[in-house]
Amino acid sequence: MSEQAETLANLSYEERRFEPPADLAADANLKADAYEEAAADRLAYWEKQADRLDWDTRWERVLDWDDPPFAKWFVGGKLNAAYNCVDRHVEAGAGDKVAFHWVGEPEDDTRDLTYAQLKDEVCKAANALTELGVRTGDRVAIYMPMIPETVVTMLACARLGAPHTVVFGGFSAEALASRIEDCDARVVVTSDGGYRRGAPSALKPAVDEACAIAEKTGHTVTKVLVVRRTGQDIDWTDERDVWWHDVVDPASTEHQCEFFDSEHPLYVMYTSGTTGKPKGILHTTGGYLVGAAYTHWGVFDLKPETDVFWCTADIGWVTGHSYVVYGPLANQATSVMYEGTPDSPHKGRWWEIVEKYGVTIFYTAPTAIRTFMKWGDDIPAKFDMSKLRVLGSVGEPINPEAYVWYRKAIGGDRTPVVDTWWQTETGMILISPLPGVTAGKPGSAMTPIPGVVADVVNDEGQSVPDGSGGYLVLKEPWPAMLRTLWGDDQRFKDTYWSRFPGMYFAGDGAKKDEDGDIWLLGRVDDVMNVSGHRLSTTEIESALVSHPKVAEAAVVGATDPMTGQAPCAFVILRESAGDGGEDIVAELRNHVAKEIGAIAKPRQIMVVAELPKTRSGKIMRRLLRDVAEKREIGDVTTLADSTVMDLIGQGMAASS
Ligand code: WTA
Repeated sequence: MSEQAETLANLSYEERRFEPPADLAADANLKADAYEEAAADRLAYWEKQADRLDWDTRWERVLDWDDPPFAKWFVGGKLNAAYNCVDRHVEAGAGDKVAFHWVGEPEDDTRDLTYAQLKDEVCKAANALTELGVRTGDRVAIYMPMIPETVVTMLACARLGAPHTVVFGGFSAEALASRIEDCDARVVVTSDGGYRRGAPSALKPAVDEACAIAEKTGHTVTKVLVVRRTGQDIDWTDERDVWWHDVVDPASTEHQCEFFDSEHPLYVMYTSGTTGKPKGILHTTGGYLVGAAYTHWGVFDLKPETDVFWCTADIGWVTGHSYVVYGPLANQATSVMYEGTPDSPHKGRWWEIVEKYGVTIFYTAPTAIRTFMKWGDDIPAKFDMSKLRVLGSVGEPINPEAYVWYRKAIGGDRTPVVDTWWQTETGMILISPLPGVTAGKPGSAMTPIPGVVADVVNDEGQSVPDGSGGYLVLKEPWPAMLRTLWGDDQRFKDTYWSRFPGMYFAGDGAKKDEDGDIWLLGRVDDVMNVSGHRLSTTEIESALVSHPKVAEAAVVGATDPMTGQAPCAFVILRESAGDGGEDIVAELRNHVAKEIGAIAKPRQIMVVAELPKTRSGKIMRRLLRDVAEKREIGDVTTLADSTVMDLIGQGMAASS
C-alpha cells in the first residue's frame, strides 16, 4: 500500500461527522427519498431528469444498452445544447438575468453578461463560424484563456452541432498539435493572449507553431479565429488568420438553430491515459446535458433564483465544461467566471470576489484549499463570505484536515462540503454527499448519487465487504458517460470495460468503510494526479526520451504536500551527452514543458546510471516511488540486478 493510501486508510477511522444544516435539509432539492425512487426504477428516474431540458423531439427509449459498452441515451430524442443553455431562458423571460459575472485578471476589468447578451453573442459567433466554413459534425479546436468568448465559442459550436475540443491554455504547441491532428480540426479559435499574475501571456504563438507542426503531417488548419484580449504583438498569416472583432462583432444576432439527435457528438476532451497518447473522450448531447444539469442542481442544491455559483476550474478541463458552462447554463444559474490566479494581485483575491458577488455555492480543488491553508486563516477572515452555503471539492482525494479547514475558514463552520468524485470520462459527478441529506465525513466522497450504481470490487470483480478496499467500478450505465474514445472503439473497450467484464473500471483504488461509505485512494494505474490534473507517467517519459541527451527515463508520481502528487523523473543519459552539462536538469524540465506543458515539469530529475528493472525488463516504478518519497526501499527480490537500488539511493543522498 502506498503511503498515501495508508494515511487515508488510517484516516477512514475519522470520527467527525457534519450533519446538514436544518434549513438546508428542509428545503433541499434532493432529499433522502431520491435514493429510493432511483433504486426502485433507475431508468424512470433518469427519464424524469431528462425533463429538465427542452427537447424538440421526445425520446422513444431511455437507454439502449443492447450493444455494451456502447450506450445510447434518450434514443430518438432531438435537442440543441446551446438552445437549452441560452435561448430557452430568454424565451422564458429571463433575458436580463446575469449568466456570468465575469472577472478579468486586471482588477478593473469586469463584465456582467446577461442571458440575452449571451444569446446574441452565441448567434453571432455561430454565424461567423458558418462563414468560416464550419459545418455540422466538423471539429473545432479552442485554445483560450478564461474569457467570455470561450464560453460563446463552445456554445456556438454546440449550436451548429460542430463538436468542440477545448485544449487547456497551459498545454504546449506540441500537445495542441497532437489534439488538432487526432480529432482532425480545421478551425482553431484562440486569442492573442490572456492575463496571468498581472502580465499578458501569449497564446497565439503556440497556435502558429501547432499549425506548422500539423502541416508537416499533411494536416492543414484552414482558419484561426483570434480574439484580441491583451493587444500584444502577434504574427499574422493573412489567408488563415481572422480577427474575432472583424467577423463575429458585425455578424447577425439572428440564428435559427437546428435540433440534433440526442447522440450527436457535443465535444471531445483529451485526457491522459496509461500510454503516451492522450485519449479523446467523446461526449454526446442529450445524456451529457441531462447529467450535467441534474448533478449541478442536485449535488450543489442550486436555487437558480437566488444562488450565485462559482466553480474555479479552467474551462480547459472537464470540470469547467460541466460546471462552468453546461450545467450552470442549462439550469439558468448566475455564475462567476474568473480569468486569473488566486494570488494576484493579492492572496485574498478569490475571497474578495466571493464577497463582491455574494457567492453562495463555491466549487474548487483540494490543491487550492491546501495552498490557502498554508497562507493562513487571516486572509479569508478579512472578507464577508456569510452568503456561502455549500462548498464543493473535486479532482483528488481531499485530506480530512483540508476538508475541516475549508468548512471552517471558508464556510464559517456552517456549510456542508460536498467531496465530488468523477472523471473526464464520467462527464458528471457520480459519487458525492448530498448537502441536504448526508452527514459528511471529512475525506470521504460517501455514496453514489441517486441514479448511479457504483461498487468497490476485488481482483476477481467481486464486491468487497464493508471495511475492505479494492477497485472502484460502475455497475450500470449513466447518461453523461463517455460514448467511446475518439476514433478508437477498441481502446475504449480495452481501457474501461475489459478489466472486469460488464463493469466500468475507473482506474481508482477505493475502500468501503464500516458503514459502507466510499473513500477514494488514488489511481491504481500509471496516471498521476498533479494539482487535480491527470498526467500520464508514460507521456512524460516519452517527452524526456525525445530529448537528444536522454537514453531512457522513468517517471513516478510522488506524494507532495501541496499538489497531491508531483512528477519525479529518473533519467539515463546517452553516452554522447557525457554528464549532460551543469544545467541538464533545467534543460530537461524545460523540454518537458515544451513538449507537454508547464504542469508536467518534473519536480525533481535524477540522473542515474541504471533503472531498476524486473528480469523481463519492466521498470519497477514502485521502487522509484520509494526513493522519490524518501522511504525505505521495498522488496527488491524481483529485480534483475538488486544492486541498482543501492546506486540510486546513494546518488539520491548525494544530490539532496
Ligand atoms: C481523481 C476530474 C478522489 C480520480 C473531474 C479520478 C478524485 C481522476 C476526486 C479524474 C475526488 C477526481 N476524490 N479522487 N473527489 N475527483 N478524482 O478526469 O483519481 O481530470 O480518476 O476529472 O481524478 O480526473 P479528471
